[in-house]
Amino acid sequence: MADLFDKFAGMIELRDTLAFEKANPYQICMDEVYSPTEAKINGKRTLLAGTNNYLGLTFDERCIKAAHDALDEFGTGTTGSRVLNGTYGAHRELEDAIADLYGTEHAMVFSTGFLANLGMIAGLTGKDDIIMIDADSHASIYDACALSDATITRFRHNDAADLDKRLGRINGGRNVLVVVEGLYSMLGDKAPLADIIAACKKHDAYLLVDEAHSFGPYGPQGQGIAAELGMVDQVDFIVGTFSKSVGTVGGYCVSSHPEFDILRLASRAFMFSASLPPSVVASATAAVRIMQSERTQQEALWRNAQQLHCGLAEMGFNLGADCSPVIAVVIEDRDAAVRSWEQLMDMGIYVNLALPPATPQNVNLLRCSLSAAHTPEQIDQILEAFDTVAKSNSIHRN
Ligand SMILES: Cc1ncc(COP(=O)(O)O)c(C=O)c1O
Repeated sequence: MADLFDKFAGMIELRDTLAFEKANPYQICMDEVYSPTEAKINGKRTLLAGTNNYLGLTFDERCIKAAHDALDEFGTGTTGSRVLNGTYGAHRELEDAIADLYGTEHAMVFSTGFLANLGMIAGLTGKDDIIMIDADSHASIYDACALSDATITRFRHNDAADLDKRLGRINGGRNVLVVVEGLYSMLGDKAPLADIIAACKKHDAYLLVDEAHSFGPYGPQGQGIAAELGMVDQVDFIVGTFSKSVGTVGGYCVSSHPEFDILRLASRAFMFSASLPPSVVASATAAVRIMQSERTQQEALWRNAQQLHCGLAEMGFNLGADCSPVIAVVIEDRDAAVRSWEQLMDMGIYVNLALPPATPQNVNLLRCSLSAAHTPEQIDQILEAFDTVAKSNSIHRN
């Protein structure tokens, strides 16, 4: 008889052939967390260089105090959806803070960034509509498309000319929602957003930008790449997450569409999932206000990104993209990538090991993400470790 698990045969084989000797990159457990940049993993003090904690706010005392106060005052959770008993004053306050940050009319807060994409993309589109997504989109964007009854089309990654061509082929009368990310999380490459906006305007298509990884690092107040270009008002919907720069969990969407609020009653991911606990909402609001009013974290983040990117480039590594807070080292040979990852762990450095099929163009990656909280000495330590593992695994360098 067929087994429901038969479909995982390929995955099981891949998992078994990888057979990590000491640590499994997909089952990392942090026994203690000392700071945004250090934790105890497998009994060892480890430098964290792959946690997307871009602004290093997870231990900010203002965010922690806000969470503590909310926990004491409002309890551990809301036990309900936003449309029933799950909206507290603090949820509204967070939505106001996000709308204020972007200068938009509206903001909706979801329980994760994943749900924000599901709720927005599947909520906005129906069977007569078309969704056009970048081919390298995040799983939540693909899953949102699978949930929607719309016609789905992909365009070549970061190729505004291909988007323009495909939009031009659509016969009139159908609404088109184009979906792109601001900064792509695997290679750390930025969307050519001005050109994408131009293509959408030319063909009257709606545009949704997921700024999950660009929220924090980019924009005058960390709003993301649309804001960095001064083009927030040219984008119909901006989605983001609180699980990276904001240092907690949650998702949001901002828009100035006059009927945006109807999504509170039309977006199933918003309506049929419990709302964020008050402590999470309070720390997110505190972090958003810090982002809005302080430049020190963003400046430190970019100094660190430059130091690591320049250092690795000088050592001749093949890097996935220009400098960004996501710095991915491309390793041609999969076994060398796996061994290097294990050796980095042995040396007390945690980065992400990303392998096909989870990577664009099927590349093997040792992916680093930087934090404002890293010190220059920690970055030097990461650089030295990469140099050592490259030598011991004969990794090709330019
Ligand atoms: C582009 C993108 N969108 C959405 C998400 C989901 O965000 P969350 O972790 O808040 O569910 C992620 C998370 O990695 C992401 O990279």
